Amino acid sequence: MASITIRNLDDATKEKLRLRAAAHGRSMEEEVRLLLGEMTHDVALSSPVSHLRSAPLFKGEGKKNPAQFLAGRDILLIIGGGIAAYKCLDLIRRLRERGAHVRPVLTKAAEEFVTPLSVGALAADKVFTELFSREDEHDIGHIRLSREADLIVVAPATADLMAKMANGLANDLASAVLMATDKPVLIAPAMNPRMWNHPATRRNRATLAKDGIWFVGPNSGEMAESGESGAGRMAEPLEIVAAIEKLLDRRPKPLSGKTIVMTSGPTHEPIDPVRYIANRSSGKQGHAIAAALAQLGATVHLVSGPVTIPDPEGVSVVHVESAREMRDAVEQLLPADAAVMVAAVADWRTANEAGEKIKKQPGETAPALQMVENPDILAGVGHNKQRPRLVVGFAAETQDLLANARKKLDNKGADWIVANDVSHTTGVMGGDRNAVRIVTRSGIEEWPDMSKEEVAERLAARIAAALRTIEV
Ligand code: C5P
Repeated sequence: MASITIRNLDDATKEKLRLRAAAHGRSMEEEVRLLLGEMTHDVALSSPVSHLRSAPLFKGEGKKNPAQFLAGRDILLIIGGGIAAYKCLDLIRRLRERGAHVRPVLTKAAEEFVTPLSVGALAADKVFTELFSREDEHDIGHIRLSREADLIVVAPATADLMAKMANGLANDLASAVLMATDKPVLIAPAMNPRMWNHPATRRNRATLAKDGIWFVGPNSGEMAESGESGAGRMAEPLEIVAAIEKLLDRRPKPLSGKTIVMTSGPTHEPIDPVRYIANRSSGKQGHAIAAALAQLGATVHLVSGPVTIPDPEGVSVVHVESAREMRDAVEQLLPADAAVMVAAVADWRTANEAGEKIKKQPGETAPALQMVENPDILAGVGHNKQRPRLVVGFAAETQDLLANARKKLDNKGADWIVANDVSHTTGVMGGDRNAVRIVTRSGIEEWPDMSKEEVAERLAARIAAALRTIEV
C-alpha cells in the first residue's frame, strides 16, 4: 500500500494542512486520515480516530450529541513540562464544554510552557503548583487534592513524570498527588520517540500498566523538533476526552470489575542486531478482542508484539518484541479473571543471537541458523498456580484444524480454543475477516465468516457470559 509522508508535501500544502488541523484541534496526520476517510466514506470503519466522529468538535455541537459522563465530574489535570502542554489549554476547554470541573496542577517545568494565568482562566479555578504552600496545605493539601477528584489526568506525561510515578517519588506537588490518590489515573505520554523507546521508559511503561495506570496515546507523527518523527506525540485533546469519558462511564457493564490478560500480534525473534524472524500476524484480531472486552467494562492488560496498528482504546498495553519478553510480561500481569492468548508466538528462536551483524563473506556457505524452542505462553498460563478461571487460546492452522485445536485444549490447559484456518487462500492472516470455530470440551461451535470486529464482539460477549456462569 502506498504511504504519504507529510514532510514531503510542498510547503504551501503543508501550511494549509497545518492551519486546517489546528482549526479542528487535530494533528496533521489525523486531518489527512479524516480527509481521506471522507473521500472514501469509510473512515468510521478504518480510522484509528473514528471515535472523534461521534465526539462534538465545536462548541455548541455538544448539544446535538451530548456525552453525559462528564457533567459534574471532577478532573484533576496534572500538566507536565513538555511542548505538548499547550494542548492542555484546549483540553481544559473541551472538558468544561462537557460540564466537567477541571482543577489544574502544574509542575515547575510545565510553567516554562504554559502560564498559571492562562490555565487558571480556562479552568476557572485556582491553579496548584506548590507542595509546600502554607496557604494551600491549610486550605486544600495534596491528599485532599488527590481524593476529591473523580479521575486524575496527567497530560503531557513526560518521561520524567512517568519515571517518578513508576518509582514512587513524591518530591513535588504533582508526584505527591499521584502517590496519595485512590482514584483512577489516566496519562497521555508525550516525548521524543527516542525517549519513548528508551529501555528505561519501556520498563516504566510496563510498571505503570501493571500498577493499573491508564494510557491514552502517544500517537505517531512529526515531532516539534524539526525532522524528527515517530511514536511520542501526545494524543489530541479530543482523544483524551474520549478516553476520560470511557473511564468515567458509570453504566453497569457485564465485565465490570474483571481483569483480563491478553496477548496479540506476532513476536520478533532476533538473529542479529538488524535481522529477526517474524510472521504475518497483524494483531488485528487480538487488538479488536481487547477493545471489545474493554467496551464491556473489563480491565484489559494487553501484551502486544510489534504491530503497526494503534493500541486499542481503553486498554493498557505493554509492548514487547520477543516471545520471552511476552512471557515475562504476561506472568507479571497474573492473577487475572481470564486470559485470552491471541498472539502468533514464534515457536522457535535462534539459539545464539549474534551480537554483531552477520556478514556475508565471499565464497562462504550461508550460515545455518540453530533454533531452540520458545516458551509456550498459553500453556504456562493454563498450567499456572495462578491460573485464571477462564483460559482461551487460538489455533491458527493450515491443516487438520479441528483435530489440532482439540489436542491444544489439554496440552495447553485451555478452556476454549478459537480455531481459524490461516491457509493462504483464506486471507485471514493480516486480513479484515475471519471464520472461526470455538472448540471446547463440550463441543464445537461454528461461526460464519464475519469481520474481525464482529468476531471480537461475539467472543467478548461469550467470555462475559462464561465468567458469570463460573461465578454462580
Ligand atoms: O501451538 P500453537 O502455536 O498452534 O498454539 C496457538 C495458541 O497458543 C495461541 O493461543 C497462541 O497465542 C499460544 N501460544 C503461546 N506461546 C507459544 C505458542 C503459542 O502462547 N510459544
